[in-house]
Amino acid sequence: MMPTARYPDLKGASVLITGGGSGIGAALTEGFALQGALVAFIDIDDKASRALVAKVEESAGRAPLYIKCDLTDIAALKRAVAKAAKAHGPVTVLVNNAARDDRHDVADVTEEFWDRNQAVNLRPHFFTAQAVARGMKAAGGGSIINFTSTSFLINHPDMPSYTAAKAGVIGLTKGLAGKLGVDGIRVNAVAPGWVLTERQKALWVTEEGLAAHITKQCIKQPMKPEDVVGVCLFLASDSAKLLSAQTLIVDGGYM
Ligand SMILES: NC(=O)c1ccc[n+]([C@@H]2O[C@H](COP(=O)([O-])OP(=O)(O)OC[C@H]3O[C@@H](n4cnc5c(N)ncnc54)[C@H](O)[C@@H]3O)[C@@H](O)[C@H]2O)c1
Repeated sequence: MMPTARYPDLKGASVLITGGGSGIGAALTEGFALQGALVAFIDIDDKASRALVAKVEESAGRAPLYIKCDLTDIAALKRAVAKAAKAHGPVTVLVNNAARDDRHDVADVTEEFWDRNQAVNLRPHFFTAQAVARGMKAAGGGSIINFTSTSFLINHPDMPSYTAAKAGVIGLTKGLAGKLGVDGIRVNAVAPGWVLTERQKALWVTEEGLAAHITKQCIKQPMKPEDVVGVCLFLASDSAKLLSAQTLIVDGGYM
């Protein structure tokens, strides 16, 4: 279920979400649109993104702007940010959500794989922030929300390049928060636990694996994409106006 809280200051806000076409990103696209925000999202999955645009137009009464862009291409990413700003005004809420948690064995990782992995899971976070910072400053401030993951905190063994990037996201968040705060820009990270997106269900969820995971959560429920939306709406809103440089963990209280 989508959060029922309303944040009036998000109405009309120019919001940009990376990877907003499916998974947690799709829930974010819809969640911000339901607040009356002007939402643009970047994705490469045409089919899922087009279906989402139609769904959100129906539920929120306004279609989000889908910008097709591979965020490993930094020049294209900068053009995508400019397109969102042109359509909706300077981006004042940026959610760096896109990532790929491809599994990889230590022995098989090549330099090329490592670089490609970082080019999805860490590098775009910096360049989107760089691209929106001036507009946010001119608008009097903004909120940047970077998605990290609890996987590196629990020593996940099967994706060291991804977990390194996710740890890096927190370092980046704190560095950007320190630098951009003077311009009224807050930068925070959100670390989900195991969220049952379509990709997770298709690739990695097993009945036994999920049951074992939920046993270790304080809240004994599987997490859905919608369960991560509320914390992002809060971080984006002026309810969090002095909250910066933090990481909020949303994992059901994993022990
Ligand atoms: N699902 C989980 O259990 C979980 C757990 C911890 C953290 N997270 C984090 O939450 C965020 C969202 O994860 P998710 O599970 O919803 O992922 P997902 O794979 O379901 O969705 C990611 C979206 O990003 C898009 N994308 C991927 N590569 C792209 C590229 N190069 N250019 C443009 N778009 C691209 C995909 O098309 C997709 O729509 C990620 O940062 C992830 O690391 C997820």
